[in-house]
Amino acid sequence: MQPSEKALVPFVSVDNMMRLVHHVGLEKMITQIAARIEADFKRWESFDKTPRIPAHSPHGVIELMPTSDGEAYGFKYVNGHPKNTSEGLQTVTAFGLLADVYTGYPTLLTEMTMLTALRTAATSALVGSYLAPKSSSVMAMIGNGAQSEFQCLAFKAMCGIKTVRLYDTDPNATKKCAANLLGSGLTIVQCKTPEDAIEGADIITTCTADKKNATILTDNMVGPGVHINAIGGDCPGKTELHRDILLRSDIFVEYPEQTRVEGEIQALENDHPVTEMWQVMTGQANGRRDDRQITLFDSVGFAIEDFSALCYIKSAIEGTDFYVALDMLADPDDPRDLFGMLMRAG
Ligand SMILES: NC(=O)c1ccc[n+]([C@@H]2O[C@H](COP(=O)([O-])OP(=O)(O)OC[C@H]3O[C@@H](n4cnc5c(N)ncnc54)[C@H](O)[C@@H]3O)[C@@H](O)[C@H]2O)c1
Repeated sequence: MQPSEKALVPFVSVDNMMRLVHHVGLEKMITQIAARIEADFKRWESFDKTPRIPAHSPHGVIELMPTSDGEAYGFKYVNGHPKNTSEGLQTVTAFGLLADVYTGYPTLLTEMTMLTALRTAATSALVGSYLAPKSSSVMAMIGNGAQSEFQCLAFKAMCGIKTVRLYDTDPNATKKCAANLLGSGLTIVQCKTPEDAIEGADIITTCTADKKNATILTDNMVGPGVHINAIGGDCPGKTELHRDILLRSDIFVEYPEQTRVEGEIQALENDHPVTEMWQVMTGQANGRRDDRQITLFDSVGFAIEDFSALCYIKSAIEGTDFYVALDMLADPDDPRDLFGMLMRAG
C-alpha cells in the first residue's frame, strides 16, 4: 500500500547531510547557521524555554532538548558518553525533529551528529564575534576530538583566526586534527603541553571530554584580554576550568537556568552574576568592555541553537534531493479509522 502525501516526513540522513555540507561549503554553512542562531537569539522572548531534560547514568548522559516559537516545535535527542571513544564509538551522537505547532505533525526528521558539530561551532564563533578581542588571530584549541576542526574553521570564518595551536592528551587526536585542517588556510601548530598551546592565544577554546571536574586551564595560564570559549564542561560534575579563572572573568551564558546546573559556573554561588548572550546580541547588555577584560563563554549548548539549525536545514533542503520522504505517520483515509487501515493492510 502506498502511503499518502500526509504520511510523509522529509528525512535527512547522515549521507544527505554530508552532501548538503559539501554543496553549500562548510564555512559558509556554519556562517549561515550562525546568522539564523543570532536572529533567533534576538527574538529570545518568543521561545518556550526549559533546561534540557537529562537521564544520567554511570556511563554518560542522554538528553532531550525541546523548544518552540509558537509556530514550530523542535527537539534534539543527544548523548554524551566520554568513555565511548575507547570502544570505537562517538562521545556525542544526535538526531532531531521539527513539527508544525498548528497540526502537531512532524515537518522534518534529521541526523544531528554532524549538525550538532556545525551548530556548536556556529554558536561559539558567533559569541566570539561579540566577545573576543577584535584583533584576534591566534586560537588555542585544547581537545582535538570530533568537534575540534569545526570549531577551528568557524573561528577562521567568523572571527579572523589565522593560527590554531592544538593540544590533546592523546597525540593521535592532535595529529588527526592537524591533518584534517591541512589546506584549510589556517596555520597549524601542534603543541605538546596546554601551556605551549595557549602561548600568544587571543582565544582559548577548551573542548575536552571527561566525566569529572577536570582542570584543563589553571589560573596562571589565563592572561588579561583573553576570550575563553569553554565547550566541554556541560554536565553536573563535568567541568574544565579552575574556579579561580571564573572569579577573574566576565561570564557569558546561553540560558542561566541550564548553565548553573551544567556549566563551569556550577562551581560558583547560584547568584554569581552572569550575562545572557541574547541580551548582548540585542544591545541590552555589554559584551567586551576593554582589552584587559577576560571574557568567558560558558557554553553548554541550548535548545534554541538546535531549533535554529533545524529550521536552517528545513529551508536548505526545499526543492533539492538532499532528503528522502519517510513513511512516518499513519494516515488513514478516515482519520478515526486507524484500526480499519491496519486491517486492510493484512
Ligand atoms: N557546549 C556544547 O554545545 C557542546 C556541543 C557538543 C559537544 N560538547 C562537549 O564537548 C566535548 C568534546 O566533544 P567531542 O565530540 O569533540 O568529544 P571527543 O571525545 O571526540 O573529543 C574529546 C577530546 O578531548 C581529549 N581530552 C580529554 N581530556 C583531555 C585533557 N585533560 N586535556 C586535553 N585533551 C583532553 C580527548 O583525548 C579527545 O580527543 C564533550 O565534553 C562534549 O560533551 C559541548
